[in-house]
Amino acid sequence: MSKYNEFYKKSIQDPEQFWKEQADEIDWFGKPSAILSKDKNGYPLWFEDGQINMCYLTLDKHIQDGFGDQIAFIYDSPVTQTIKRYTFHEVKSEVAKLAGGLLALGFKKGDTAIIYMPMIPQTAFAMLACARIGVIHSVVFGGFAPHELAIRIDDCKPRGIITASSGIEIDRLIAYKPLVDEAIEIANHKPKKVIVFNRKLGAKVPFKKYDVDYEALVYGSEEAPCVPLESNHPLYILYTSGTTGKPKGIVRDTGGYATALKFSMKYIYDVKPEEVFWAASDMGWAVGHSYILYAPMINRNTSVIFEGKPIKTPDSSTFWRIISEHKVETMLTAPTAIRAIKKEDPEGEFIKNYDLSHLRNQFVAGERCDAATIEWYQKHIPISVIDHWWQTESGWPMVANSLGLGEFSMRLGSATKPVCGYNLKIFSEDGKELGPNEEGLVVVKLPLPPGNMLGLWENDKRFKESYFSRFDGYYLSGDGGFIDEDGYVFITGRVDDLINVAGHRLSTAEMEEVVASHHSVAECAVIGISDDLKGQIPVALVVVKAGESIENFQLEYEVVQLIRKRIGAVASLRNVIVVQRLPKTRSGKILRKLLRSIADGENFQIPSTIDDETIIEEIQNDFKISKLGKAI
Ligand code: COA
Ligand code: AMP
Repeated sequence: MSKYNEFYKKSIQDPEQFWKEQADEIDWFGKPSAILSKDKNGYPLWFEDGQINMCYLTLDKHIQDGFGDQIAFIYDSPVTQTIKRYTFHEVKSEVAKLAGGLLALGFKKGDTAIIYMPMIPQTAFAMLACARIGVIHSVVFGGFAPHELAIRIDDCKPRGIITASSGIEIDRLIAYKPLVDEAIEIANHKPKKVIVFNRKLGAKVPFKKYDVDYEALVYGSEEAPCVPLESNHPLYILYTSGTTGKPKGIVRDTGGYATALKFSMKYIYDVKPEEVFWAASDMGWAVGHSYILYAPMINRNTSVIFEGKPIKTPDSSTFWRIISEHKVETMLTAPTAIRAIKKEDPEGEFIKNYDLSHLRNQFVAGERCDAATIEWYQKHIPISVIDHWWQTESGWPMVANSLGLGEFSMRLGSATKPVCGYNLKIFSEDGKELGPNEEGLVVVKLPLPPGNMLGLWENDKRFKESYFSRFDGYYLSGDGGFIDEDGYVFITGRVDDLINVAGHRLSTAEMEEVVASHHSVAECAVIGISDDLKGQIPVALVVVKAGESIENFQLEYEVVQLIRKRIGAVASLRNVIVVQRLPKTRSGKILRKLLRSIADGENFQIPSTIDDETIIEEIQNDFKISKLGKAI
C-alpha cells in the first residue's frame, strides 16, 4: 500500500488516533486529552481541552529553538520599489509590542478587531498581535467598499479597526482611511479605536477622535506575552460570500487549525523548515491567512509578502524575478495570475531571463485550472503545476496531490485525491452516492478534519442550514464534481449562485440586490459568464421599469458605479445588458442556470417548467448584440 493510501485509510478509520498523532507535532501549553468531541449542536470539535497560542507557535517557539535570526518574511513590493527582510526576532518584537499596545487600549481576550489593510508586513503583524492576546481578528480585503466593511463591522462588532493610510493598485493610490471613516459612519456599531499605520505615500489621512497612530503605539508599548488559549478559542473570522446578500463569517479555531496547517506543509506541500514559500494571494482571503501567514510561520519557513500584481507592476516578469531573487522553492497562486502573464508574454520571453532552478513545485488553487494554462506553464518552466481544491470554510486543502506522502501521477483537470481526513463522496440531488465518473454534488462525511470552520459568527442557524441540513451527517461543499474509476477527484464548479472572478469568490445574489436598487430597474439577474482571463465575470441582465426613459449606456454606467460603491471594484461588474424580459419558471423563478448556459454557448435542455420558450432566442440575440459570452 502506498504511504498516501495508508495514511488516508487510517485518517478515515481512526480519525481520533490519526489527529492525536498530528497534534503531537505542535507545541501546546496544555496537551488535549479530549481529541474529538461535539459542540452543543452536535458538530465535531477537535482538541477541546487543549491550551495553545498561535502567535507562540509562529514566533516565540522558533526564537526559543534558536532560529530568531532566520528570515520570517520577505516583503517585496514592486509598487513601492521596496524589498525588506524581517527576522523572527524582529517580527516577534514588533508583534509583542503591538499586542502590548492593544492591551493598553483596552482590547481583551474574546474582543474582535477588523483589519483593513493592503499587502504589507504590518498586516501580518496586526494579525499576529491579535492572536498573541486572544483578540479575534477579521481581515477584510481592501477591494471591498465601505458599505461592505460596514456590514462586517455590524456583524462582528469590533472593539477597534487596524488600517493603513493607503494601498496601491496598478494605476492608483487608494486612501484607506477615508473608506474606514465612511464605513464607521454607515455602521450602527461604532468601534472605539482606529489604529492607523501611516505609509507616508501621500494619501489623505483625515484625523478623527478615535485615531491612534500605529507606530507611536508600537514604540510606546511594552512587549506582551502570549496568552494560553483554549484550543477552540476563535483565531479569526473571515467573511466570505454566501448565496444570500449577506456574507458568512467563517470562524476558525486555533488548535485544530494549527495542527492541520502543520500537517499540510509536510504532507501536502512537502516543504521543509527554512525553505522559501510564496503564496501570491492577499491576506484578505483564506489563502492569505493560511499560506502567507500561519502555515509557513508555524513550519518555520520564510514567507514572501508580495504587494503587486502578476502583470503591470511593472510588467509580467515580476513573478519570475521574485522566484529567482528570493530563491522561492514552493509557490502557490491562482490560475488567473498565470493566464494574465501568458496573455502579456505568450512566448514566455521574460522567463528566459531568470534562474528559476530553485522552484520545485507550482501549486494552483482558487478556481478551476484549465489545461491550456498548465500546459503553457510547463512548456516554459519544467516543473509540476499542481492543482488543489479548497474553500474558505476548510481553511486548507480538501483535495490535493499529497506530495509529502509519496508522489502519484496526476490527471489533467483533476485536483488529484482527497486529503487525509476528508471522506469525500459524490451525491445525487436526492442524496444517493454516485459511482465513478457520475457527476453530482461534492459532500464530505462528518467529522471534517481539524482546521475546518468552527461555525458562522453568532449564526448557528445559518451554519446548520447552509452546510448540514441537506444531507444528514454530511458537509455540503457547494461544488459539483465527480470521482473517476481510480479515485481522482474532478471539481466542475459551483452548483449554487456563487461565482469565481479572478480567484475571488463573489455572490451574484448580493450583486442582484444592488442592481435591483437602481431606480430604473424593474427586475434583474446577475450571472457569471466564462471569461478567458478571470475564469468568470459577472454580467447583469436588467429589465427597465415601464415608462422609464434612460439610455442603455447610461444605465450601464450607473449600475456599474452603484456596484463599485456598494460592493467594491473587486466585484468586476462591467457589463449590463438591457433585456425585455427574463426567462422564468411558471412559478416565477428566474432560470439563471439557463441564462448561464445560453451565455456560454453550451448545450442546454429547455427546462420543462419554463414559462415561455420563445424567450430563449430573444436572450441569445441580446448576448450576440452585446458581444458578451459565447452565445451562438
Ligand atoms: N484594494 C483596492 N482595490 C482593489 C484591490 C485592493 N486590494 N484589489 C483589486 N482591486 C480593484 C482593482 O484595482 C480593479 O479595479 P478597476 O476595476 O478599477 O481596474 C478591480 O478591483 C478588479 O481587480 P482584479 O480582479 O485584481 O483585476 P485586475 O484587472 O486589476 O487584475 C489580475 C487582473 C488577473 C492580474 C488579478 O486579478 C490577479 O492578480 N489575480 C490573481 C488573484 C488571486 O491571487 N486570487 C487569490 C485567490 S488564491
Ligand atoms: P474560496 O472560499 O474563496 O476559497 O472559494 C472556494 C471556491 O473556489 C470553491 O468552492 C470552488 O468553487 C473554487 N475552487 C477553489 N479551488 C478550486 C480548484 N482547485 N478547482 C476548482 N474550483 C476551485
